[in-house]
Amino acid sequence: MCGIVGFTGHQAAAPLLLEGLKRLEYRGYDSAGIAVIDGDTINVAKVSGRIANLCEKTHDGADTPGSTGIGHTRWATHGAPTDLNAHPHLSNDGKFAIVHNGIIENYAELREELIAKGYTFLSETDTEVVVHLIEMYYKGDLKAAVMKTTSRLEGSYALGIVCTDDPETLFVAREHGPLILGIGVGENYFSSDVTALVSYTKNVIYLDDGEFAELSPDNVTVYDCAGRAVEKKISRITWNVEAAEKGGYEHFMLKEIMEEPGAVKAALAPRIHGSDLKLDDFELTAEQLRDVRRIVITACGSAYYAGCAGKFAIESLCRIPVTVELASELRYADPIIDEHTLLIVLSQSGETADTIAAMKECKRLGAKTIAIVNVVGSTIANLADHTLYTWAGPEIAVATTKGYTTQLAVLYVFALYAARRLGTIDEQTYSALLADLHSLPKKMQQTIDMNHALPELAEKIRDRQSLFYIGRNTDWAVSLEGALKMKEISYIHTEAYAAGELKHGTIALIDDGQPVIAICCNDRLMDKSISNVVEVKARGAKVIAVTFRGDTRAVAQADDVIFVPKVDPLFSAALAILPLQMLAYYVAIANGCDIDKPKNLAKSVTVE
Ligand code: AGP
Repeated sequence: MCGIVGFTGHQAAAPLLLEGLKRLEYRGYDSAGIAVIDGDTINVAKVSGRIANLCEKTHDGADTPGSTGIGHTRWATHGAPTDLNAHPHLSNDGKFAIVHNGIIENYAELREELIAKGYTFLSETDTEVVVHLIEMYYKGDLKAAVMKTTSRLEGSYALGIVCTDDPETLFVAREHGPLILGIGVGENYFSSDVTALVSYTKNVIYLDDGEFAELSPDNVTVYDCAGRAVEKKISRITWNVEAAEKGGYEHFMLKEIMEEPGAVKAALAPRIHGSDLKLDDFELTAEQLRDVRRIVITACGSAYYAGCAGKFAIESLCRIPVTVELASELRYADPIIDEHTLLIVLSQSGETADTIAAMKECKRLGAKTIAIVNVVGSTIANLADHTLYTWAGPEIAVATTKGYTTQLAVLYVFALYAARRLGTIDEQTYSALLADLHSLPKKMQQTIDMNHALPELAEKIRDRQSLFYIGRNTDWAVSLEGALKMKEISYIHTEAYAAGELKHGTIALIDDGQPVIAICCNDRLMDKSISNVVEVKARGAKVIAVTFRGDTRAVAQADDVIFVPKVDPLFSAALAILPLQMLAYYVAIANGCDIDKPKNLAKSVTVE
């Protein structure tokens, strides 16, 4: 996953490109570069490392004059993060420069063909085959050359291209990679993400797969896969650049944790209509729901763990079998999916390659699909039969927080909506659960407000080599996500375990002083959860319990207790995860970790 930007207008392009790349650094940050047309030459500056290195090398763009250019920030897939492998890449004749997000899967054979035809490669990247193909096919018509080139490509690409024959034109192409056009006055832009555009314009066009576009300072033309000009809707971005800034918090992650009550409210509000629930722009009738014989939830990472939590609500209320499948496994599992399968796809970015692939495989097998995603116009959103946006706003920190809890909120809405239409719950149960759902944003805020001692708790565990997270049922699902949060930002090894399973082996690892975080937020199973706390305490564990305020059972046994307001266990994950996100944050702070850009990670994994 990388980030690409482009600008064409009447002011210096380089400083704008650099600013745009800074806002895309979360997509990948191991090398970066810009290419700007100056007269009949293309000036290219590219470096390994962060954007800051590129700003330093170009004196904030002053050394790269010109008013039309492209930029790229990279998360390496083919070829190490070096200056030579950094984008943009130039054609041998110096007429073209290109930036690319995605993977060209047939690049090896194309590279051989091009070398045999005398083209010289400077990098190890898959991308470089594209710029040489364009040079090879170019006969004076850039659109024709790009279309011929992309017809040879297999894999995923969002391409930005400049050509010295058309010094004011940007040309872009999209296949399985986000690409958004920014519509300005006397200037136009493209980017992988609106975050890089919203400072300059709130009017955007989301390109779809197979589409191309030509941008000049005063004109934007979009072409379909056959090269015909098409009309595209101009969307209006509703949030401003500050929303994508840190808002006064030290890190995006903390800002986004603090935003969670509001984000969940934004996810719920448009779907709660008095005593009824609605699913945006589509309905599911009882007959359609009764035709669903199984529900498969698929996702990766935290989105998968959100699915693990949402499964309990859907199964318990709708009485439809639900399985939660890792997308990277599902796509190759030869799954038993048919027209009676409802596939729910969870993704914050909407661009996760494994999730997209699994979704396509299930669609091919006949599944009906609902996407629950945050990024408007993302690939997964466009692929789905129906899309329920989580409306979390931009999530910049690599470690998701509001992306996860808003996915939970939408899953809960779906569960309650479907159960009511299926008649699998009575009106009294429905009303009680609807009230609990409605109360989540307030109770999330209370959870944040009542847990100010987490930095001290973080000090107690920050130097541990490993941490265990245990829970039952919905609490187990929370333990999975809580463990991942700690792992991915503090780099402490953690293991999440179904509490009832500990005695079948893993408890051998519990020795004196071993911290165990026990989630005890399921009323129905509280006694069982407490017995697991006693079990690990007997082996010397130091237990941090997460439990309902006012419930004293865990207090009697645990060494430290984190409280959350009481809510139905089916929805408790949305509360219990908050202190675990904050605990991970404070441990990472105490250990001096890079909070928003953890090592080896990127925000959107658009490669396999
Ligand atoms: C979350 O903290 C991780 N960064 C990662 O597991 C993420 O949830 C996963 O890559 C899925 O991303 P998506 O929701 O954008 O599809």
